[in-house]
Amino acid sequence: MAEIAVIGAGYVGLTTAACFSHLGHDVTCADIDEARIAQLLRGEVPIVEAGLEALVREGLEEGRLRFVVGAANAAPSAEFAYLCVPTPQDDDGSADLSYIEAAAREIGPRLPSEAVVVNKSTVPVGSTRVVERVLGRDDVVVVSNPEFLREGSAVHDFLNPDRIVIGSDDQSAAVRVASLYIGVTAPIIVTDPPSAETIKYASNAFLAAKISFVNAIAAVCDAVGADVKDVVLGMGYDTRIGHEFLKPGPGFGGSCLPKDTRALVQIADSAGYSFDLMRGVISVNEDQFQRVAAKVRQMAGGSLDGVKVAVWGLTFKARTDDTRESPALRIVSLLADQGAEVQAYDPAIKGPVGGVVPANDPYSVCDGARVLAVLTEWDDFRWLDFDKVAGLMEAPRIVDARNLLDRPALERRGFTYVGIGR
Ligand SMILES: NC(=O)c1ccc[n+]([C@@H]2O[C@H](COP(=O)([O-])OP(=O)(O)OC[C@H]3O[C@@H](n4cnc5c(N)ncnc54)[C@H](O)[C@@H]3O)[C@@H](O)[C@H]2O)c1
Repeated sequence: MAEIAVIGAGYVGLTTAACFSHLGHDVTCADIDEARIAQLLRGEVPIVEAGLEALVREGLEEGRLRFVVGAANAAPSAEFAYLCVPTPQDDDGSADLSYIEAAAREIGPRLPSEAVVVNKSTVPVGSTRVVERVLGRDDVVVVSNPEFLREGSAVHDFLNPDRIVIGSDDQSAAVRVASLYIGVTAPIIVTDPPSAETIKYASNAFLAAKISFVNAIAAVCDAVGADVKDVVLGMGYDTRIGHEFLKPGPGFGGSCLPKDTRALVQIADSAGYSFDLMRGVISVNEDQFQRVAAKVRQMAGGSLDGVKVAVWGLTFKARTDDTRESPALRIVSLLADQGAEVQAYDPAIKGPVGGVVPANDPYSVCDGARVLAVLTEWDDFRWLDFDKVAGLMEAPRIVDARNLLDRPALERRGFTYVGIGR
């Protein structure tokens, strides 16, 4: 078993630390956020992620998981140092590597000889070399090992990945990284660092393209009177297409797809290729926020000025508390810009976010609302008392941007219902 430092205790870092400790390794997880580390030392997990708290507590109790403030403090005995820090979007759409560089600078002088630094953050092609340069150590190898977990099922995905990708020019370092995944059954792809880095961007770009594609098909369905649910069912049975990620909705969001698609356009541009297909994917996505807002406006009678709109769902998807680049927040802000009085509820959000102060229950936001917009696919919403909702609203009208609810059941209760592409 290995000694692993994990730098960054966010969605990826904390999951990586807890899962490696669960697999039997000795893990020290560092963050710059002192309050977060204090919380973790008490066994409290600051994010909503199924199964994570149990693994953190297991690691703490069994002494295989430690939390420290500052990357430098995790480095001295690390055989492996995983970089799991943010790579946000820079002003020009490219990935901002300053967090990666800062973390590498902090651990560089402290790492033992023969350590392997592993880049798990999503970084543009060439970043492995950037980290090597910043570390300034001939006796330390840098390996790319991108992460593909999905928020909401991060622990499950880490322990049951579809594949493990390792990018290294040093075969023995690649084998050492692969051996950390002891007990995990998955194909392992060992390649060079630029290919590993490209696999991550290409995968996210493809997923984003699927979402924009199905949202465009939904727009066609709206226009021609087809039902997108049946259309995607009929498409998905083709094994070359498949059912996954073929669900129309309010557009893609979250901490990864928006920034990674823009970064890929930028990466391609600077390498001399104009990735117009990806530009189209991004532009269809931007249009989708507008399309949903337009459906709400239409449902409200053509104007949102002074109209009460109830919103269910603020997170970028269900089973997470993450609202980064949430389509729901983009749509809420479009509604507010047109004069709507938005009252919102989300089961995972208790404090103010994006100019919205969420209510504590799904019913109170419906009080006096002219339209209810369902913007996140929380399963809980399916089982609410819709007679009560209808009684509270000015008139029972729903825009279901996730095609989540049972349309015939709602129509039987007197609701006017509009979904996406149906
Ligand atoms: N969130 C996802 O679903 C997901 C999936 C795959 C890949 N990724 C990629 O993984 C990376 C991390 O994403 P995330 O969602 O975990 O981010 P996050 O914002 O949730 O967590 C990053 C953490 O790093 C900490 N940090 C920043 N600088 C530090 C430093 N110098 N030393 C120690 N800690 C530091 C921050 O305080 C924060 O807690 C990004 O590159 C992202 O694109 C994310």
